[in-house]
Amino acid sequence: MFRIGLGHDTHRLGPGDGLVIGGITIPHDRAAIGHSDADVLLHAITDAILGAAALGDIGEMFPDTDPANKGRDSADMLRRAAARVAAGGWLIANLDCVILAQRPKILPHRPAMRRRIAEILGVEESAVWLKAKTGESVGPIGEEFAIGAECVVLLERA
Ligand code: CDP
Ligand code: ZN
Repeated sequence: MFRIGLGHDTHRLGPGDGLVIGGITIPHDRAAIGHSDADVLLHAITDAILGAAALGDIGEMFPDTDPANKGRDSADMLRRAAARVAAGGWLIANLDCVILAQRPKILPHRPAMRRRIAEILGVEESAVWLKAKTGESVGPIGEEFAIGAECVVLLERA
């Protein structure tokens, strides 16, 4: 028995000197703005696994109106969502993600991100794939007002 899930997220870019993305910090001349650490990729993955298991979404689990969630580590949110999904009797078969960013280059950081995501989820690195797309210099992504991420996940009955 299988279930598919989809996650999508966007964060505004602002002044700063690094991006928290995929559970690691990569050098950049801007930062993603958000209530938590604004890790757009971990947020998309969190929504994908919760959606696949029909167990809610990241905003329901961690409301941004709750001061406890201010500056929260997105890895911690993903770990808690994954525990909820596992408790529901599901294993993560694989996930496939796209980061939408005009800059910086994501591919050099892919191995570290895959390692970190696999570690947070407790799956093999081979179950995690990741790619990146620019916005072709147009729109909010291309003009560097925002970054985004998308994720699909497949769950199988434990
Ligand atoms: O060539 P195409 O229009 O399909 O893609 P692109 O958005 O121009 O990106 C070209 C390649 O650069 C992508 O396939 C990624 O491998 C890489 N890329 C990246 O490493 N970091 C980004 N922020 C965007 C793209
Ligand atoms: Zn987010």
